[in-house]
Amino acid sequence: MEKMLREMRERVMKNIEAAGGTGALEQIRVAALGKKGELTALLRGMGKLPPEERPKMGQMVNEVRAALEAQLEAREKLLAEREKAARLAAEAIDVTLPGPERSAGSLHPMNIALRKMVDVFVGMGYEVVEGPEVEFDHYNFELLNIPKNHPARDAQDTFYVDDNIVLRTHTSPVQARIMTTRKPPIRVICPGRVYRADEADATHSPVFHQMEGLVIDENITMGDLKGTLDEFARQMFGEGIRTRFRPSFFPFTEPSAEVDLTCANCKGEGCRMCKGTGWIEVLGAGMVNPHVLEMCGIDPQKYSGFAFGMGVERMTLLKYNIPNLRYLYENDLRFLTQYR
Ligand code: DAH
Repeated sequence: MEKMLREMRERVMKNIEAAGGTGALEQIRVAALGKKGELTALLRGMGKLPPEERPKMGQMVNEVRAALEAQLEAREKLLAEREKAARLAAEAIDVTLPGPERSAGSLHPMNIALRKMVDVFVGMGYEVVEGPEVEFDHYNFELLNIPKNHPARDAQDTFYVDDNIVLRTHTSPVQARIMTTRKPPIRVICPGRVYRADEADATHSPVFHQMEGLVIDENITMGDLKGTLDEFARQMFGEGIRTRFRPSFFPFTEPSAEVDLTCANCKGEGCRMCKGTGWIEVLGAGMVNPHVLEMCGIDPQKYSGFAFGMGVERMTLLKYNIPNLRYLYENDLRFLTQYR
C-alpha cells in the first residue's frame, strides 16, 4: 500500500505540473482528493491492514494529501494569473484605431444655392416671407394685372384646381399678398415652389422653384434695382460678374427688364454655355406697375418699388456648372454628395 501511495503521489504531481488550465486542474483535484477520489479509496483499503500498521499509513495518507493540496494551490494560483493575463490581452482596446465610419448627410446643391441667395438678401436687410402653393387666381393673376383672357395667362401653362384656384405659376402672388396687408417700407424675398404644365426636359420641370423680391418705399428707382442685383451677382458668383438689363414686358412691372449675368463659365468671352454671347439670362424684374400698387392699396403718388423673380434651379445650375436640370431631381448620391 505504501508503494501505491508513493506511486499515486508521483503520478498526480506530474499531472498537476502538466495541467494547462484551472479547469483541468480542478478535474485532477477531484479525481485525486475528492470524496470519491483515489485517496479516499486507498484510505478505505486501510481496513485490510493489520491494526499496528494503520497509524503509520494514516499519517502517510495525510502527508500525501497535504503535499498534493499545496502543489494544487500553487499551480492553481499560477494558472489563474496566466488566464487573467490572457483574458485582459484579448479584451484590450486599441484606442488609437480609427472608429467605424459613419457617413454624414449633405445639403442638396439647390438648398446650398438657395441658402446663399437668401443670405445675400438678408444681409441687405430683406425679410423672408412665404405664401401658399395652392393659390387664388386673384393673387396669382388678377392683382398682378393679368386679367382673365389676358394673353400672358397662356404663357404660364397653369394647373387649375377650379375656376378661382390654381397651383401658383410663380412666386409673384406673394408680392400681392404682402402689398395688400402691409404698409411701406417693404423689403421682402419670397422663395418657394411653383408649378407649370411643362414637359420635363433638360431645362424644364412641371415643379420648380423661384425666389421673388419686392421693395417698396418713397423714391425707389430703377437705379436701386440695378445696384441691388449687381451686388447680388457679385456676392453670389464673385467679382467681375456684371448684370445686363434688356427691355422686356411683364404685366405687373413697368418698365420691365430681363436681366442677364456675365457668363461665369467663360467670364464673358463666349462659350457653349452662353451660346457664344458671354451673357446668361437669369431673371425678370422691373418697377412695380403703379396700377398694381393701386389695386393692392398702396398710393402710387407717394410710393414706388421694384420687384424681381429668379429661378432657384437656374441659379444652382449656373453656380455649380451643372449641365442638366435632371441631375437636381434624380437624387443620385454620387452626384449629390459632391456638393457640401
Ligand atoms: N413672375 C415672373 C415669372 O415667373 C418673374 C418676374 C418677372 C417676377 C418680373 C417679378 C418681376 O417680380 O418683376 O416669369
